[in-house]
Amino acid sequence: MTKPTPSKVDMEKLVSLCQRRGFIFPSSGIYGGLSSCWDYGPLGVELKRNIKQAWWRAVVQERDDIVGLDASILMHPQTWEASGHLQGFSDPLVECKSCHLRWRVDDLAGDSCPACGGELTEPHLFNLMFKTFMGPIEEEASVVYLRPETAQGMFVNFENVLDTTRKRLPFGIAQIGKAFRNEITTGNFIFRSREFEQMEIEFFVKPGTDKEWFDYWLEERFNWYVKLGIKKENLKLRQHMKRELAHYARACYDIDYLFPMGWAELEGIANRGDFDLVQHAKYSGKSLDYFDEETKEHIIPYIIEPSAGVDRSALAFLCDAYDEDLAEGEPRVLLHFHPALAPIKVAILPLSRREKLVALAKQIYADLRQCWMVDYDDAQSIGRRYRRQDEIGTPFCITVDFQSLEDEQVTIRERDTMNQIRLPIKELKTTLTAKLGGEDLFVLPPGGRIWKEGESG
Ligand code: GAP
Repeated sequence: MTKPTPSKVDMEKLVSLCQRRGFIFPSSGIYGGLSSCWDYGPLGVELKRNIKQAWWRAVVQERDDIVGLDASILMHPQTWEASGHLQGFSDPLVECKSCHLRWRVDDLAGDSCPACGGELTEPHLFNLMFKTFMGPIEEEASVVYLRPETAQGMFVNFENVLDTTRKRLPFGIAQIGKAFRNEITTGNFIFRSREFEQMEIEFFVKPGTDKEWFDYWLEERFNWYVKLGIKKENLKLRQHMKRELAHYARACYDIDYLFPMGWAELEGIANRGDFDLVQHAKYSGKSLDYFDEETKEHIIPYIIEPSAGVDRSALAFLCDAYDEDLAEGEPRVLLHFHPALAPIKVAILPLSRREKLVALAKQIYADLRQCWMVDYDDAQSIGRRYRRQDEIGTPFCITVDFQSLEDEQVTIRERDTMNQIRLPIKELKTTLTAKLGGEDLFVLPPGGRIWKEGESG
């Protein structure tokens, strides 16, 4: 048997950094928190927005075969009958007869309670959907559910999208939004929570072409994480065994990531066949077929579904970016975020609080803020300020000093290499645009050179 590869990141350190620096807080912390619900702080919300933006860009903006949608969270209750969630979206649970803790059957290694070793009950099914009531009367007829996945909003809008966009097969619908599951076991920080966000694509294809599109999406989605900086060795594809397949799936692979607690699902890619369109046509009485101009036949498209979690992606990007090294002989913590994901792209650090210097630094700050999220920090030594920015993953720091007033140049320092150069202020936007876009460009002034943090410039 192969040994599980240990992750290099310690979850406790990561959780502490996230809380200390304003990435993620326990929800309603002043009341003691709410189990498995999380609030994203000023840096966390930027990270999450950047992840969603990178996904949207890759799957909607840069493609001509996928369009976006934002369906409502509350849907007609029949949706969940048709989808199978009312009948099938249940986790088998066992309860310990001694300590009464409940456990998912999937999570158990043996047949006794992992907490106290007590005897366990037979498994019972527990529906994971949150129920609420629509309107003023709390009665069975007004029950609605918080959606447990965004997918159904896209299936029920299939005809609307087809009619309004004139898309032909193969084409997809993409959606980002909140989903809710009354999970039994939560934990591992934001890995499994009861309120979370999904980024899902429903890609409609002609039956018979589904296998090749399935393979296409496996590769496409795996590479998306790699392009955004996740190390290949921390990702793997895992095929679902037949008994693991969800009720709608003909085939499914997970993209697993090596989280601190071990390998676990980051994204699922399923071949849903025609299950969803057939079911919704049956329950709604509306025809949800597609007229194939080539064969002059009505067909029910098959659906390939890459379904990712925003929060799980955020956790994976945080884990993968986390690093500790030495700077000038002192330990430093840093997040090697890809520039597209870094919450703050640039920090402006004036060397003194003297009026003239502050005026210039603030002017650069205001100017760059038109393009990116920029931080301004004038407290404590420059070394301390660099460390603060490294710890939140800011790719570039700009130091404004007295010489800047004379030569209209500033020092720009790169997070990972700690390399520094002096650069004309008027070249900042061009250089930063190129660097943040992944290019190697530095517009050095005549005689300019590169030096390391700690060396003199
Ligand atoms: N529409 C298919 C679907 O929802 P899923 O495997 O149940 O499939 C897809 O969920 C993705 O949503 C997962 O890979 C994960 O990233 C995220 N996800 C699911 N449940 C979650 C939870 N309780 N907390 C955080 N993320 C979750």
